[in-house]
Formats: sequence, structure tokens, C-alpha cells
Amino acid sequence: MNILVTGANRGLGLAFVKLGAEKGYRIFAGVRSEDTEYPELEKLQKSYPNLVEIQTLDVSDEGSIEASKGELEKRGVSLDGIINNAGVLIDRGVAFHELNLAEGLATFDINTFGPIRVVKHFYDLLKGEKPFIVNISSDAGSITNTYDGDYFYGMSKAALNMFSEKLRRALPAVRIYSIHPGWLHTDMGGKEAPLSPELSAESIFGIIEGEVSVSPGANTYITYDGKKLDY
Ligand SMILES: NC(=O)c1ccc[n+]([C@@H]2O[C@H](COP(=O)([O-])OP(=O)(O)OC[C@H]3O[C@@H](n4cnc5c(N)ncnc54)[C@H](OP(=O)(O)O)[C@@H]3O)[C@@H](O)[C@H]2O)c1
Repeated sequence: MNILVTGANRGLGLAFVKLGAEKGYRIFAGVRSEDTEYPELEKLQKSYPNLVEIQTLDVSDEGSIEASKGELEKRGVSLDGIINNAGVLIDRGVAFHELNLAEGLATFDINTFGPIRVVKHFYDLLKGEKPFIVNISSDAGSITNTYDGDYFYGMSKAALNMFSEKLRRALPAVRIYSIHPGWLHTDMGGKEAPLSPELSAESIFGIIEGEVSVSPGANTYITYDGKKLDY
């Protein structure tokens, strides 16, 4: 399988690259900047030179996405799937009366508009037999189960869930998921988090491969182990 992963230099994104390459998948690993060094990802690229390819892909910059897509298209690359993983949590714990709207715009720009930009440009490279788009969401995007805090983050993921549902209708031949990856031991999730990004990535690959079953009646919004979430 050929898979595009955004935010691939650390955390869950890096786990997708490592596990995907171990499985023999060809991974196009998106990173924000061509001027930054990404030692862990570069090490993986050296270990799997035919499978891991680093792509400059700043999800907040439509030009960067167009350029990356154009380059892959010119080389005749097609994709089986897209994993929109890049995300930020900027407003953790900020009360509603102290919210900084610039941070809100930045959060939506990456968490919501990022996947929209990527799908807008890359969907026509999806030519595999059972193509898929995985939007990495969060349980923080559930309106039913929301809490006081992480306002912009939760709203950006709720909007991402809506995008997934609309895509499900627009692209009936493509499997579309909005997946909560669990509370992860990453820079975003912190050290106390109970779940490793590797285990989460393994289970999400299981959903993609049909090895992990998805709750009957679930639409696009599910957990990393296939359980239905309430919007
Ligand atoms: N960790 C959790 O407990 C948890 C729970 C629920 C959902 N999630 C979701 O899971 C996904 C991965 O989270 P994580 O824990 O792995 O986070 P992380 O360790 O903070 O990594 C975030 C990744 O996103 C990239 N990114 C941010 N802005 C970008 C941009 N404009 N263009 C390209 N890449 C960009 C980062 O790149 P840079 O290194 O360049 O910043 C980094 O690779 C996110 O969508 C997050 O919302 C995480």
C-alpha cells in the first residue's frame, strides 16, 4: 500500500511511518518544513530507503500541499490512503473569557483546514482497490461528551468530524474515518498518558487492513480500536 501521512516526524505520525515501513508499505511522510532536521524520521528513511519518502507538507500552506501533490503526480505515484495526523493543541486549560482568538484561528488552520487542504489536493491520487482517508480526530471533538476546557481544540476536531461525514457522502468508494487515537504518550499527550503511539498506530492499521472490526452502526467517528463514538 502507498500511504500519505502528515505530521510524520514525531508522536503518532512517526509511529505510522515506522510500523507502515515494517509492514512493507510505502509511506510518504509529510513534514512541516524542508529547512528543519528530523533525525528520527531521517533514520527511518535510511533504514527503509525504498519505503519511506519524506515530503515537505505544511498543512497550513496550500501551496506546499499543491507542490507535493504535483511532484507525486508527475512521477506517476498513486495512493491507497491518506492519514491526516498533523495537529496542535494550543489552548489547553484556557478559560473561555481568556481565549486568544489568534490561537483559535491557528488551531482551526491546522486541525480542520489542514485535512481539508490535503484531501482537496490529494484525493484524485487515491486509486487503490479499497482506498481510505483517516482523519485523526479526538474524543475532545465529541459534542455529547464535551467538557469545560480545550475550547478551540475540541471545536476544531468537532468540525473535522463534520468534514469526515460530508466526505463519506461525497466519496462513497472511499472508506472515511475520524479516529480518536486514545490518550497517547507523546509531546501532546504528555508522560502520564497510558497508551503508546505504537499501539495506537498498530490498531488503526488493523482497522485499515480489516483485522480490527468496527462497531456495527458506527459511521465515521470511532476510537483507535474500532468502537463507535458519539458525535
Ligand atoms: N496525544 C494524544 O493524547 C492525542 C489524543 C487525541 C488526539 N490526538 C491527535 O493525534 C494527532 C497526533 O498527535 P500527537 O500526540 O502525535 O502530537 P505531537 O506529538 O504534538 O505531534 C504533532 C505533529 O503534527 C505536526 N504538525 C503540526 N502542525 C503542522 C503543520 N502546519 N504542518 C505539518 N505538520 C504539522 C507536528 O510537526 P512539528 O514537529 O513540525 O511541529 C508533529 O509532527 C493529532 O491530530 C492530535 O490532535 C492526540
